[in-house]
Amino acid sequence: MSRILVTSALPYINGIKHLGNLVGSMLPADVYTRFQRARGHDVLFICATDEHGTPAELAAHEAGVEVADYCRQQHALQKDVCARFHLSWNYFGRSSSIQNIELTQQFADKLDENGLIEKRTVRQVYSIDDGRFLPDRYITGTCPKCGYENARGDQCENCTRVLDPTDLIDPRSAISGSQNLENRESTHLYLKQSQMVDQLRNWIDSKQDWPQLVRSIAYKWLDEGLQDRGITRDLDWGVPVAHDGKWAEFDDKVFYVWFDAPIEYIAATKEWADEQPEDRDWLSWWYGEAAADVHYVQFMGKDNVPFHTVGFPVTIIGSGEPWKLVDYIKGFNWMNYYGGKFSTSQKRGVFMDQALDILPADYWRYYLMANIPEGSDSSFTWDQFVVAINKDLADVLGNFVNRLLRFAKSRFGDVIPDGGTPGQPEAALADQLDKRIPAYTDHLEKMEFRKAMVELRAIWASGNEYLTVAEPWTKFKQDKAGAALGVRTGINLIRLFAVLAQPVVPALSAKLLACLTLSPDDTAWPEASAADLLVTLKPGHPFQTGDVLIEKITDEQVAEWAARFGGTVSD
Ligand code: 2FM
Ligand code: ZN
Repeated sequence: MSRILVTSALPYINGIKHLGNLVGSMLPADVYTRFQRARGHDVLFICATDEHGTPAELAAHEAGVEVADYCRQQHALQKDVCARFHLSWNYFGRSSSIQNIELTQQFADKLDENGLIEKRTVRQVYSIDDGRFLPDRYITGTCPKCGYENARGDQCENCTRVLDPTDLIDPRSAISGSQNLENRESTHLYLKQSQMVDQLRNWIDSKQDWPQLVRSIAYKWLDEGLQDRGITRDLDWGVPVAHDGKWAEFDDKVFYVWFDAPIEYIAATKEWADEQPEDRDWLSWWYGEAAADVHYVQFMGKDNVPFHTVGFPVTIIGSGEPWKLVDYIKGFNWMNYYGGKFSTSQKRGVFMDQALDILPADYWRYYLMANIPEGSDSSFTWDQFVVAINKDLADVLGNFVNRLLRFAKSRFGDVIPDGGTPGQPEAALADQLDKRIPAYTDHLEKMEFRKAMVELRAIWASGNEYLTVAEPWTKFKQDKAGAALGVRTGINLIRLFAVLAQPVVPALSAKLLACLTLSPDDTAWPEASAADLLVTLKPGHPFQTGDVLIEKITDEQVAEWAARFGGTVSD
C-alpha cells in the first residue's frame, strides 16, 4: 500500500458550480481517488472552497450580504451538493480558515527571509466613480493577446493568459461598468519569480510524463519570461498582509487570492487533522522525509495550470523548506454547453444542484466521465446525454442486471444455483475480460479517463454477448444445469461490473452489490484472473432482484430540460 495525496482545484465560493466545473477537476479527482482506494492505497483527497479575492467580494456584493456570511453559507451549500454528487473527499475545507491565514503568512515570511519579496510602488487602475482601486476581476476589458472582449483583470479565460489589469484594452469597472478610470500609485509586495526561472525550468523538464496540455502551458509561461508577480491587493477581504508587527504599513491590504488559495491544499489538510489530532498527522503528507513516500496528484482545468506549474511551485521552492511539490498534474480542457460557455448570468447549462433535482448523481457522473474534455474541449448536448443514459447505462448495464436477476429468481429461487461445468462460452468471456480489465485498470492508473470509459462500457457489453451465447432462458427446459451455469456466471459478472464501475457510479455500484447481498464496501479491485473472478460467488450465495436499475429518459423529459436549461434536441 502506498500513500497518494489527491487535490482538486478549489471551487470559487461564488455560487454552486456547473457541470463543466465538476468534470474539469472535482469529478475526475474523485474517480481516481475511489479507484486507488479500491486498489488498497491510502488516499487522502482534499478540497476546499476558494473564498478570497474578487470573485467572493463581487458575489457577496451582488447578494447584498457581508462577505464572511456569504462565504459561510455558500461553503455549506457547496459541501452539501458535492456530498450528494458522492465526491468522497477526506476533507472539504475553507481557504478563509485560520489555518490558511497562518500558513499563508508563514510562507510570505519565509519568502521574505530568502530575499524573494520586494516592495514596489506601482500605478494601478483606480475607478473614480467607484472610489476604489480595481484589482483583478473588478476590471474587465479586451485581452491584448487574443482579443477576447470579456477578459478579466487577472486572467483571460479564453486563452488562459495571466494578465495585469493595466494590460487590458478598453478597461471598465466590473462593479459599475464605468470607464472613468485612472492610474494611481499604490505600494505592493512583489514575489521575485524571475529569480527562479532556472529552478522552475529544471523542475518542469523533469516532468516528461505530464500531459502535453499541462507541459505546453507551463513552457508557454516560462518561454515568455517569467515576470515578478504582485502578491498583495487593495481589498478588505483576504489574508491580512500585516501580521505580528511585520508589514504594518500594509494594514489595508490582503494577499492575492492566487497566493493563498493553493496554500489551502496544505492548510485544509491541517484543518482535517485538527478535527482529530490524535489520529491524523497532516505534516506527514506534506513535509520533509515523513512525506517522501507520498505521491501527490493535482486535478484542474487548463486556466489553473499556470498557477500550479509556476505560481505555487515558486512559493514552495522559494520557501526553502521541504514542502511537497506536486508529482503529477492532470489538466483538462473545457466542457462547453452546445459549443458555448456554461454561464450563470445567461442561465445557460446545468448547475450541480439543478442536475440533482432531475436525476441521480450517477447518471451525470457517467455521462460526464464518458465525455470528459481530455484531448480537446468537449460539448454537453442533451442528445449525447440521452444516448449515454438510455443505451449505455439502461440497455447495456441495467437491462443485463434486471433481466438476469429476475430470470434467476423465477427459475432458481433466492440463491445462486449449482450445476454445469464452464465450457467454451465461459472461456471466451474470460478471455475478453483478461484483456479488458487490465486495459481498464491501466487507463485509470494513467488517468486516461475517456479510454477507461470506453473499456468499461465494452466490459458491460461482453456480459451481454456472453448471455446471448449462454442463453440460460432457452436452455432452462432441456439443460437446467447449463442454465444454472449461465446464471451463476452472469451473477458473478454483476459483482464484477459493480466493483469495476464503483469509481464512476458509486451509488449504482452499491445497489448492484446490495442485490447480491454484499456490502457497498466489497469493492476491492479485481486482481485475479477472469476465470477465478467468474466463480467468486459460489452456489448457495443469496441474492435478490432490485428495482429497475436505470429509468430511461423519455422524449418529453429531455424536451422539457432542453427548454429549461437551453439547448436543442433532435427528433
Ligand atoms: O479557477 C478556480 O476555480 C480557482 N478557484 C481554483 C483555485 S485552485 C487552488 F489553487 F486553490
Ligand atoms: Zn486572451
